[in-house]
Amino acid sequence: MVSSSPPGSGFDARVDARARPPSGGSLWNRYLAPARVVPLTSRGLARVAHTLRATWRAHPVAGAAPAALGIDVSDVCDLACAVCSRVIHRDPRAVPVLDLERFRAIYDRARPAYLLLSGYGEPLLAPDLPRMVAHAAADGAVSTVITNGMHLDGDRARQLLDAGLAKVKVSIDAADPESYQRLRSGGDFHRVLANVRAFLDLRDRHPRARAQVEVQAVLCKENLDQALGIARLCRERLPGVDLNFLSMFTYGNQPGFVERALPRWNEPRAAEVASEIRRVRAACAAWGFRRACGSLDAIEVQLTRDLSGAPCFMPWYQALVATDGRLYPCCHHSVHGTPVGNVLESDFVEVWDGPAMQTFRRRLLERRASDPVCAACCYEDRILARLFGWIPHVPARERP
Ligand SMILES: C[S@@+](CC[C@H](N)C(=O)[O-])C[C@H]1O[C@@H](n2cnc3c(N)ncnc32)[C@H](O)[C@@H]1O
Ligand code: SF4
Ligand code: SF4
Repeated sequence: MVSSSPPGSGFDARVDARARPPSGGSLWNRYLAPARVVPLTSRGLARVAHTLRATWRAHPVAGAAPAALGIDVSDVCDLACAVCSRVIHRDPRAVPVLDLERFRAIYDRARPAYLLLSGYGEPLLAPDLPRMVAHAAADGAVSTVITNGMHLDGDRARQLLDAGLAKVKVSIDAADPESYQRLRSGGDFHRVLANVRAFLDLRDRHPRARAQVEVQAVLCKENLDQALGIARLCRERLPGVDLNFLSMFTYGNQPGFVERALPRWNEPRAAEVASEIRRVRAACAAWGFRRACGSLDAIEVQLTRDLSGAPCFMPWYQALVATDGRLYPCCHHSVHGTPVGNVLESDFVEVWDGPAMQTFRRRLLERRASDPVCAACCYEDRILARLFGWIPHVPARERP
């Protein structure tokens, strides 16, 4: 059985808890999580079935609300990270932090199975975040929060566990304080590590909480040499966490991003970088970081294959809603793309399966390369299947 939530900077799926068997706490923490038992909701199954059917038939209508929904809950941040999309994503329509009322107005229209709470800012700066998680949990949805980890402490940490959070991803792009400071300016390496350790401890002592804790590292040219160190850091200093790597997105080859990102398959040094990725993967496999292995496999595919025309099921599976209700086909488009409608102004499914979204899906099916963001994007079905971990891979077919 499985859990859920979208990938990449976003959702992923399994509430796996390979690492250290917790010393105390709930039945879940003691037995079920280490056995890799993960919740799969009936709503999730039904929505994924729609995704698979529509993508298999190459049909532009998904036929049901998305299985996974990303809701931006914050547009403010206390860090200034080197790779962050905030540099190019400054939308005056964005609301600084989402409140519970607006969150419910968005969530209740979609009722996703898997919810990703993140944003172009720091979600833990949204005071209502625990109440959003609780609202989704009461409705049977599985929630993931992505955070810089600076505020994952004290009452806030406890409230998130009480609320029924399924997963927290903590972004740590470096293996030592100096590199961390260079990449995540304004953050405090030691404080983030201490917060992660305290959160794990709190979870293990919590009577009900079963949140998975995952370190997420975005790889670019500047920190490729840190990847192995990040895995070692997780193993030695953060026992109990899972690990996920992402390669830096360029959001349609934006200046300042494309130069920093890992090379494409046809660029100089791609083969050399791929071999480094394989080396890190071997270490992750030896240390039991299974999810990291899947994510490194995905990065290797990006380094070795031309993906500009590859199929992608993302816009049938998940959507991303900005703080003011704008809906985007995926997180890449939300940074540098056009919204397909506003779900606070129109019916959710009318936007999600409406004319603009259908046009977008049709173009993706017929000529992905004609959309600059999709052409430069490093996702495709096989990669997504690996990132999600549990979605069966639908083989690429010849498109009309
Ligand atoms: C935009 S942040 C928001 C959440 C929170 N502030 C954080 O840093 O985790 C969400 C995730 O996107 C990642 N991210 C930021 N810029 C990125 C890029 N250009 N490519 C890929 N991931 C990126 C961050 O490292 C983080 O893991
Ligand atoms: S902490 Fe997150 S939102 Fe803030 S600058 Fe870094 S990546 Fe961007
Ligand atoms: S290919 Fe396009 S739709 Fe698919 S994840 Fe990439 S940018 Fe989004």
